[in-house]
Amino acid sequence: MAAGRKKVSVIGAGNVGATAAFHVAKQGYADVVLLDLPDDLTLERPRKTGSMAQGKALDLNQVSPIVGYDARIRGTSDYGDTAGSDVVVITSGRPRSPGMSREDLLAVNADIVQSVAAQAVAASPDAVYIVVSNPLDAMCHVALKATGLPSQRVIGQAGVLDSTRYRNYIAAAVGVSVEDVQAYVLGGHGDQMVPVRSLTTVGGIPVQKWVDTGKLSADELQKIEDDTRQGGGILTALIGTSAWYAPGVASAEMAEAVLLDRRRILPCTVLLNGQYGIRDLYFGVPTLLSAKGAEEVYDLTQLVTLTETELAGIKESASKVQATVDSLKSLGKL
Ligand code: NAI
Ligand code: 2OP
Repeated sequence: MAAGRKKVSVIGAGNVGATAAFHVAKQGYADVVLLDLPDDLTLERPRKTGSMAQGKALDLNQVSPIVGYDARIRGTSDYGDTAGSDVVVITSGRPRSPGMSREDLLAVNADIVQSVAAQAVAASPDAVYIVVSNPLDAMCHVALKATGLPSQRVIGQAGVLDSTRYRNYIAAAVGVSVEDVQAYVLGGHGDQMVPVRSLTTVGGIPVQKWVDTGKLSADELQKIEDDTRQGGGILTALIGTSAWYAPGVASAEMAEAVLLDRRRILPCTVLLNGQYGIRDLYFGVPTLLSAKGAEEVYDLTQLVTLTETELAGIKESASKVQATVDSLKSLGKL
């Protein structure tokens, strides 16, 4: 590990964690610690030497001469190796199996996130924490409590992923570059998430104009929004477990915004404190992401005119997240 580089620890060296680690390392500005359980807790017959996290780290170091990065990756199960991280990404936990909702993961992942967040913050009290484990919004509450940090430094990744899925579908349907589609998907990371059509533009032109001029049919746009909401489920049914390329890179994009103090405005899951009429609930909204973490949260209801459908969608999504958080409380996990 180089003294001059930033440090990112990724807790959970599974599909999403390893992909996030690769993408961060590839940018070259941060070394990465990839932490997972020791094999004797995950395998019936542990390896005689080393662990899965060490193996993935070695693989990621070995690809660096081809890709051309000097960042170093260390695999470990020792939180001591994560000490002094600038960013900690929490991806540890069970993923979805086909037919499973994110909420089905609630109790088991709450215990995992509680345990890893508490251990990580003891080693990296100054880091910004990016939670990825599902059910995402509820796991942010668990991480906030376990770390005891200000909520500005405990943020969830969902909106960057959900928005990239929406943008990809629109770009393909209109037949333009993905780079020219700007869109936000807000709300909880569940099937009630809200693709905000009124803020979606293609080449700077509102997406509704593309519908009005016949370049995109209204049915197609409706299907895109439905598929976006069902995004994770569609992939889980196809792959047999949940997706990891887009989730991993989305997490790395948030880490980069923090590490490089980029002041990106990204849809992040943050603790609302009255914005959108929502209080004490983690929810996905446009957020200024800087070295401080969630530096500013934008309340679109005060800044632009959202449609009745969008406002109703936000309300419905918030009550779904609240219900999940309430279940966590009744399970005694919050
Ligand atoms: P995975 O099963 O490939 O990896 C999870 C890893 O966490 C495993 O290697 C496991 O050993 C490790 N782990 C479990 N308990 C641990 C502990 N106490 N300490 C350290 N490591 C521990 O799963 P995958 O696909 O990487 O997904 C990880 C999580 O991210 C799941 O909860 C999944 O639902 C969630 N997810 C969230 C997304 C989002 O947008 N927020 C998108 C995709 C997945
Ligand atoms: C996803 O959206 C399951 O949260 C995971 O792919």
